[in-house]
Amino acid sequence: MPPPFHSVFRAKNAGACVGKRIAESYGPMSEAMTRGQRMERIVSLCKRRGFIFQSSEIYGGLNGCWDYGPLGTELKRNLKDYWWRRMTRERDDVVGMDGSILMNRQVWRASGHEETFSDPMVDCRVCKGRFRADQLPEKDGQKQCPSCGSRDMTEPRAFNLMFKTYVGATEDESAVTYLRPETAQAIFVQFKNVLEVSRKKLPFGIAQVGKAFRNEINPRNFTFRSREFEQMELEYFCKPEQGPGLLDYWLEERLKFYEAIGIPREKLHVHEIAAADRAFYSKGTFDIEFDFPFGVQELEGVAYRTDYDLAQHQKFSGKPMDYFDEETKQRFVPHVIEPSAGVDRTVLALICNAYDEETVTDDKGKAETRTVLRFHPRMAPIKCGVFPLLKNNELLVAKAREITALLKPHMLVFYDETGAIGRRYRRQDEAGTPFGVTVDFDTLGERGPELHNTVTLRHRDSMKQERVPISELPGRLLPEVL
Ligand code: GLY
Repeated sequence: MPPPFHSVFRAKNAGACVGKRIAESYGPMSEAMTRGQRMERIVSLCKRRGFIFQSSEIYGGLNGCWDYGPLGTELKRNLKDYWWRRMTRERDDVVGMDGSILMNRQVWRASGHEETFSDPMVDCRVCKGRFRADQLPEKDGQKQCPSCGSRDMTEPRAFNLMFKTYVGATEDESAVTYLRPETAQAIFVQFKNVLEVSRKKLPFGIAQVGKAFRNEINPRNFTFRSREFEQMELEYFCKPEQGPGLLDYWLEERLKFYEAIGIPREKLHVHEIAAADRAFYSKGTFDIEFDFPFGVQELEGVAYRTDYDLAQHQKFSGKPMDYFDEETKQRFVPHVIEPSAGVDRTVLALICNAYDEETVTDDKGKAETRTVLRFHPRMAPIKCGVFPLLKNNELLVAKAREITALLKPHMLVFYDETGAIGRRYRRQDEAGTPFGVTVDFDTLGERGPELHNTVTLRHRDSMKQERVPISELPGRLLPEVL
């Protein structure tokens, strides 16, 4: 049997750091908190503020499945939109596609998924629990059941991770197919069509964002390892001799992407996968990993997949998957470099990276804890809060509504008139909103014409405030949030 697929979604060392104190990665503010405590607070904030809910919660949930609430949906959309913009629209050499989730079963036979896309599974003979064999804790050199502690475990056997289903009304073998376990195969099987309509020359890429499904034996670490998840994948086709150089190029491009969404390089680890651990078709793979509170885990794989996939589909379908090079007059099956990122785990990385608590003193000198999500403004779900100082003053409210209407065509704005202004700021800090605009009596010109039609612009991270003319707000905020 060939070695298992290496994939973005096979993580190592899960849970390894849970008990340890947070130091360098999360800064001195977090020194007093363990990584486990930090993760608990993040999970609780996600629910409280509507980033992430358990799927089907009122029925007890469904293991490995999650729903995104209003803020989480915006965050996720900002991530996917920015990926799409950077990977396709800002480039001349990449086009997009949107493939179906269900495909002909032959796709999964050709790709090798039907035969080899599996994890080793063991059963505990005492409590009957099922676990991934490679994630069992050991005691005195012997594998132990993580649930009941027994050492009476079965031998590992392969468990295929694809969700099987039937297409049409007949539930027999001829109707079997699978929910796609990766979006990549839709790109490979449409390679010829896209090549023809886009009239691209090598090297060029096809990008896709979409759902994928894996029946994980043990989903865990909140949304990190889910059974239903989204991928952002690029298949970048090239001549064989261009492969190694393009692998390095795409690794660097992807690291720059994470910096552009606010994840600094020092929190990322590049892990070169040893030849023995790589997928059998790969000539080189790098994992880009992030230091989550529950351990260093993979966000993305950048893999040189050679001509494996196209050659397999050519063999199984009997249809040519080759490319004609007009300069050299040669015909060959292109090689491919694949940067494959997980949407949900990047959203989780954004939240973990942004989460902070600090002690601040209020107007009366009382110390309190400020919870703040320090998202990059480009990723922040809400870009700007707009607050009339008092809700029962018609002129203040009308001006604040006017500013909301001015900004709304350009960004997501949140109008809030309830509660003390300090509390309103705190609510937006917790949602990660980078800017706050407050309309006060100076805005109305009550203290002289020079402050008329100016507002207070508050910056989330520094909490500093400045006076800005209303007319300048779009020009000030737009370059920061785009
Ligand atoms: N297409 C690579 C992966 O899903 O891991």
